[in-house]
Amino acid sequence: MNVSLGEVVHRHRRLRGWTLAQLATRVSYSESMICKVEKGTRTPDLALAKALDEVLETGGVIARTIAAGRASTPVIPAQLPPPPPDLYGRARELHQLTEFSAAKRSPVVVLEGMAGAGKTALGVHWAHQHAASYPDGVFYAPLHGHTGRAPAEPGDVLAGLLSDLGAKEIPATVDGRARLWRSLTHSARILLILDDADSTEQVAPLLCGGSGSVVLITSRRRLSERTIRAAASRIPVPPLSRDTAARMLADLIHAGPDDHATLGAIAEGCSGLPVALRAAVEVIRDHPGRALMELAAHLSGPRHLHVLNTATARDQDSGIFRMVETSVRRLNPLAARVLQVLGARDIDVVTADDVADQLGISTSDAEEALVGLLGENLVLARPDGCHCPRLVRSVARSLNATSEAGDSTLRIAS
Ligand SMILES: Nc1ncnc2c1ncn2[C@@H]1O[C@H](COP(=O)(O)OP(=O)(O)OP(=O)(O)O)[C@@H](O)[C@H]1O
Ligand SMILES: [Mg+2]
Repeated sequence: MNVSLGEVVHRHRRLRGWTLAQLATRVSYSESMICKVEKGTRTPDLALAKALDEVLETGGVIARTIAAGRASTPVIPAQLPPPPPDLYGRARELHQLTEFSAAKRSPVVVLEGMAGAGKTALGVHWAHQHAASYPDGVFYAPLHGHTGRAPAEPGDVLAGLLSDLGAKEIPATVDGRARLWRSLTHSARILLILDDADSTEQVAPLLCGGSGSVVLITSRRRLSERTIRAAASRIPVPPLSRDTAARMLADLIHAGPDDHATLGAIAEGCSGLPVALRAAVEVIRDHPGRALMELAAHLSGPRHLHVLNTATARDQDSGIFRMVETSVRRLNPLAARVLQVLGARDIDVVTADDVADQLGISTSDAEEALVGLLGENLVLARPDGCHCPRLVRSVARSLNATSEAGDSTLRIAS
């Protein structure tokens, strides 16, 4: 499938907010001529094609197509998955995304947060709103950093991106592919979403060339920005606040104002994680005859992880337990030990001094352990210390129980 040159001209003109007359004036041709080009009833000559490329800053695609004797270009990728049906909260993060992606040179924006916090939903929602600003295409590449599958190889991802961009020959090496990708994107304006990144090494070869494109990365881990690019901006995606989470629940289950406190308790049992909140909604919808208060006791009581795990496993690659556990498995031994203690003693907020006291280690070791936990987004930085969400503590307790029982299979303790 191809895109007509008229469509290319039309998209770029609309992006700049110009009327037909304004574009005509800029290229010194008549308005009716530009109108015919856009409608596809006239093919521009090479001089007009070059003028259009120049004023519209298309990277030369119109003149190249004319010179090759074609009337259309390869299809412009529009690969976004559907947007989430409704997005609660996130006004601040959406604003930051718009701000950072408008930064002058080659913006790279990293959305980072714990399992199921809503990174992909946020990125995809924003991308749908702004897709028209990227007339050369919107690309979406899942990198499988945490899905349980092998993380995507950069060389394979590049081969896909290059062929989507219309490259006829794909170089054999990863470096060759990365160089061609940067060359082809140099004067383009594309949006590339790299979803669920595993590491900096995985994403570094995938960055675009030039300055007109935006790369949006999501990851459960803190990627080292220095090696991605000095200009990378980080947007933390925290769990939803109790109020926002309660509002989301209220809307989705059509609850009344009297239910606010009960919904707050459920929100707390879900630690404000959208993936868990959606699962809680399913549980409530599955039991239309049961009192909300009774269901809330399950969703926020001591067995909340068990109930939410079963419900999340229905439509995610894995349940919330495995989602969090994937990050726990990446901790160094000391950070893992700290998490074990946070779970066993059900500690909500800790400082490095607390950790040093509890484990009998030096403050600098305690600080390093907390940095490890922050790096995997298993705790969140707050002014009063590091906050470990309740669901994470419950996962840690289950893992403790499993290892104490000497079990090789993981089971979910209540
Ligand atoms: N702000 C939100 N409001 C309502 N629903 C949301 C919100 N954020 C995410 N969701 C929903 O929660 C679920 C999980 O979201 P999403 O997949 O974006 O999380 P994630 O952080 O990308 O997870 P992972 O760590 O597995 O990549 C999805 O069903 C999504 O539609
Ligand atoms: Mg995701």
